[in-house]
Amino acid sequence: MKEAIFSGVQPTGIPTIGNYIGAMKSFVNLQDTFQATYCVVNQHAITVPQDPQTLRQQTKQLAALYLAIGIDPKKSTIFVQSDVPAHAQAAWLITCQIGLGELERMTQFKDKATKQEAVTAGLLCYPALMVADIILYKAKFVPVGDDQKQHLELTRNFVDRFNNRFGENILIKPEAIYPKSGARIMSLQDPTCKMSKSDKNEKAFILLLDQPQQIIKKVKSAVTDSIGLVNYDKEKQPAISNLLEIYSIFSDRSIEELVNEYHDAGYGRFKSDLADQIVSILEPIQERYQALLNSTELDDILLKGANEANEIASATLSQMEEIMGIAYR
Ligand code: AQP
Repeated sequence: MKEAIFSGVQPTGIPTIGNYIGAMKSFVNLQDTFQATYCVVNQHAITVPQDPQTLRQQTKQLAALYLAIGIDPKKSTIFVQSDVPAHAQAAWLITCQIGLGELERMTQFKDKATKQEAVTAGLLCYPALMVADIILYKAKFVPVGDDQKQHLELTRNFVDRFNNRFGENILIKPEAIYPKSGARIMSLQDPTCKMSKSDKNEKAFILLLDQPQQIIKKVKSAVTDSIGLVNYDKEKQPAISNLLEIYSIFSDRSIEELVNEYHDAGYGRFKSDLADQIVSILEPIQERYQALLNSTELDDILLKGANEANEIASATLSQMEEIMGIAYR
């Protein structure tokens, strides 16, 4: 039997090429080897304020994008988190087993909290819901970008603690799978910050649904440096190194090969070729996306996915409730 993997993306906006490179591209590559479950984590999204109508729309858009990038519903289970109640139910059991200090130490909580006017308890407890997502499917591996490292570590610690307390091997201890390159794509405007779909500055990211002209403009206005040579040196030339990583992944060419070609070419030509390369990969994805977005096919796939996910998740939840003394009959 194939080992299980699980991952998800928040419908907090249209995914960036950072989300794609760090996680979503791996979703496609791993679905032949593993029993894959991919979720649109809309309950994570509400840890910060969301407009209800926009959230509904973005949830469907993200599901359509999962399919458009090449996730095959015959091989993988695709569903929306809120369609499977076991996630929120297990999250409560987990919240009651996690220390407050553990949650307060999460750097993503601290980062996101500083950007909010009012910080919700949900933002603090978010990692418990993420633990639930992973353990419910007995996932052995979790493909993610490296900003999720701390949350994965928390999950691993939780699993050890739960199994020690309630019985060995009830839950599976997961491992992260990071992409070999591009585990943290940086902002196009500030190479010290992660590229994020909720960045206020639209020039900082490229979205999977950006039009060719927008992509060309954003790559053109990406910050560089005054050195003027294309080198891969994350310390001295972090912005150019970030663009090289993006180029390498979108072209399937090694960074070394790209440095050899563009070293003395000037940033103008390098950026123009990079933008063309991104457009050539995103255009066919966008065409498939448009065809899927309002199709009944999408609804059918999500319904089937929710049924499959419900079966697995509710079985694990029952096991947890049983062992914790919650199921009393
Ligand atoms: N810049 C990035 N480089 C590589 N991987 C990234 N990921 C996110 N940003 C990058 C990975 O994408 C997956 C889905 O992320 P998410 O939407 O669940 O949450 P996030 O990490 O908080 O992503 P964003 O884009 O920064 O969202 P907002 O702006 O809503 O907070 C994860 O595997 C993540 O590692």
